[in-house]
Amino acid sequence: MALVSLLALLRGAAFAATSFEATSSNPPLDDVSDPPSLDGAPPASLLGAPLDGACADATAYASHCAAWAAAGECARNAAFMHESCRRSCGVCAAAPASCDGAQGSVQLAEACADEHESCSEWALQEECAKNPVFMEASCRASCYVCESSACRDEEELCAQWAAAGECAKNEAYMVVRCAFSCRVCFLERSAECRRDEKMAPAAVNGTIDATFERLLGYPGARALSREPWIVHLDRFLQPEEADVLIKVAGHDFQRSRATGDEDSSSASAYARTSMTSWCNVPSCMDDPRFVAVRDRISALMDVPWQNSEHLQLLKYEVGQFYTEHHDQISPRHSAWGPRLYTFFMYLSDVEEGGETRFTRLNLTVSPSKGSAIVWPSVFSHDLFRTDERTFHEAVNVTKGVKYAANFWIHMYDFQGALARGCDNKNYLQPTSVMGAQGAS
Ligand SMILES: *[C@@H]1O[C@H](CO)[C@@H](O)[C@H](O)[C@H]1NC(C)=O
Ligand SMILES: *[C@@H]1O[C@H](CO)[C@@H](O)[C@H](O)[C@H]1NC(C)=O
Ligand SMILES: *[C@@H]1O[C@H](CO)[C@@H](O)[C@H](O)[C@H]1NC(C)=O
Repeated sequence: MALVSLLALLRGAAFAATSFEATSSNPPLDDVSDPPSLDGAPPASLLGAPLDGACADATAYASHCAAWAAAGECARNAAFMHESCRRSCGVCAAAPASCDGAQGSVQLAEACADEHESCSEWALQEECAKNPVFMEASCRASCYVCESSACRDEEELCAQWAAAGECAKNEAYMVVRCAFSCRVCFLERSAECRRDEKMAPAAVNGTIDATFERLLGYPGARALSREPWIVHLDRFLQPEEADVLIKVAGHDFQRSRATGDEDSSSASAYARTSMTSWCNVPSCMDDPRFVAVRDRISALMDVPWQNSEHLQLLKYEVGQFYTEHHDQISPRHSAWGPRLYTFFMYLSDVEEGGETRFTRLNLTVSPSKGSAIVWPSVFSHDLFRTDERTFHEAVNVTKGVKYAANFWIHMYDFQGALARGCDNKNYLQPTSVMGAQGAS
């Protein structure tokens, strides 16, 4: 009850005085009746279906309107959307309790908007939590500060229902009628990329610390840092194993791509100059010597190998490098969850240069064939928070050739989700609806 009142208070405070008064004159939460149930109907089948005859999306677009609205099309493409997706854009409903007491949804959209094109992208990177002062002022819609035409509640009691846990208990109804209060507006809806509720995460609070303590028992293991953990494994691979990985994974070297590197004319194209080849073909994935290494990592980290991305082989020649970056790039509600660990193997001795430098720790690791370093990308006590202390770079190789391999380990199954076509995006997840409550 205390939590519920606090949530109601916080929500009230985010709204202007008019709606706050309306909220406080509502009956006590215990007396609020539960929202109607739409038992059995999967959320996807509801999306876009007119829920009341007077205010409907055009039949031809009914299955797309909600997704378009969630993607911001009501504002970007108003003429078409306000005509064809009336319900999803909220242009015909009575004004809901809003952040500024606007009279209609069109004003509502203008009053509650992002000021930067990248707001939704930033929000996906958890910036609303990391950088609240800036984000809540400049990215009001994407940070759920106020209701917008792309993200709004359809029922007056949504906030109270959400505070009482209905987003999780009565999801099918709530994600459609109370998308703002449940904070599910900007999530993709895909049955394939929705995690099984029974699927266990590879780590819970404290697992990462326990894993690294255990790792120190491995022959040749040494902690280079404990806060955050960076563990060096002096001889993880036999020299022949390192050679085999280069051979079987090195079937298709391409110029490496860094995040945001799609436009080769952009500055970020020069962030990374190495060559990359993935172990993503049967001749590598099924090679027994690769499988042995994969399974050794899996046993050591106590995470099923399916939670790992394909091994990524890297080749740096003289003059090649990778500027400072962080490995955790997977959204909280992606099918596979955050990258928990990087297991990085050095496959060659480099004559000069090619160190891995943890830029924020003043810690430099020299490559040596067969050794590995392991570090977490997130906090042991808060697995959805990126640990920025593990930013790192690959220093310029000045003599010789550097071969190395990345093995990235996620919280949930990666290989199965990838095979089902999932992307590195936020999807509506069973826990995300409940998580929305915790995040308020
Ligand atoms: C990398 O090292 C090579 C060889 O010493 C040098 O010519 C080049 O300028 C360096 N590049 C950068 C970006 O430091
Ligand atoms: C970084 O580490 C080096 C060598 O370990 C040390 O000499 C140097 O003083 C350190 N610099 C900072 C800023 O801590
Ligand atoms: C994780 O556990 C620690 C210690 O028990 C606790 O202080 C912390 O609040 C927990 N964090 C989360 C996110 O549950």
